[in-house]
Amino acid sequence: MLDWNDPLAKPVQTEPVEPAIVEKALSGSKAKNKNNPEPDLVNKNLDPVNADDKRVINGQTDINQLAPFKYPWAWTFFLNANKNHWTPLDVNMAQDVSDYRNKLTPEEKHVYENVLSYLTTSDILAMRNIGLAVMEKMSAPELQIYQARQVYEEALHTWTYQHCIETIGLEQGEIYNRYRVVPEIHQKIALANRRLSSVLHSDIDLRDRDELHNFVISYMFFAAIFEGCWFYNGFSPIFALQRRGLMKGTAEQLQYIMRDEVMHAAFGIRVVKQIIQEENLTLDPKEIRAMWDEAYEAEKSYTNYILRDPILGYSAETHLAQFQYIANRRANQLGLSEDPFPGAESALPWLDEQANLRKEKNFFETRVTEYQTGGVLTWD
Ligand SMILES: [Fe+2]
Ligand SMILES: [Fe+2]
Repeated sequence: MLDWNDPLAKPVQTEPVEPAIVEKALSGSKAKNKNNPEPDLVNKNLDPVNADDKRVINGQTDINQLAPFKYPWAWTFFLNANKNHWTPLDVNMAQDVSDYRNKLTPEEKHVYENVLSYLTTSDILAMRNIGLAVMEKMSAPELQIYQARQVYEEALHTWTYQHCIETIGLEQGEIYNRYRVVPEIHQKIALANRRLSSVLHSDIDLRDRDELHNFVISYMFFAAIFEGCWFYNGFSPIFALQRRGLMKGTAEQLQYIMRDEVMHAAFGIRVVKQIIQEENLTLDPKEIRAMWDEAYEAEKSYTNYILRDPILGYSAETHLAQFQYIANRRANQLGLSEDPFPGAESALPWLDEQANLRKEKNFFETRVTEYQTGGVLTWD
């Protein structure tokens, strides 16, 4: 049995507790409650929270009071996120070990390892962004509650990559350090780090229009590009292997992550739009253009490295075309007036299915345990 006071200790066998002891403990706690009545939580001097007064940022309402909701959709996001509950231990990885050792070509191993290498660092960065730079600036608790779940999910994603690395038997130090020594991976992380660092201060005054503009662009980058494009399309090379019956356990893990990321992107985009509306903010089109351009250049360099040799059914051209197509979709969701990449067409018509496949279609084919899941939800 796990000792919850000391979770790292060896499991101990506990004696069953005598019913009389339980009864005594309960009667003691009842007596204590009687002698120490609940404090009067209703302070007559405070006005009740009015939902209309809430704001995404710069609000003055009580941050500790969840309802009444001004943003009920944020609460719905939280409830739906809890329907995609899973852990990496739920997925059988046995066949992946054999595939990696016996079936993958050197080019496919290069793709697999470098995608994992990028993802490990990316999800830590995503966790720090939402937990340390974004969440603290929100002034409505229903937004923070979903973001708290998001922080957990980013940690879960990191666990998932670590689980894959351990199971396949890859050299951890080498995989985790790769982003430091491979410039094409590093520059993508560096770009995101720069966006994160500029808003990673608790003393930012979001009543200052320049600071506000910078914060909104940063959150937009993380939701629409980092999560909405780079993650959404970043798993595709592994899905291409999955479609050929290879590395199916890893791919299934990534499908769960992709569901989370689709929600993160949708939530972030919605919050960004809400801020723009509430703060009556006009975004500088030049800065938005620069954001798309630098994201594309970073993706191009990364893609040309991981897919320097195409693998069967997947190439750098495919990957980049899909990036542009998804970027247009995110711009559209943001309500931006122009497509960043006019005329881009879907190069991977099967990609959306990876996020939307339903349980009845045997999506969870290798799953060991059953949870209630959000299989009937649309995740995009
Ligand atoms: Fe993530
Ligand atoms: Fe995310």
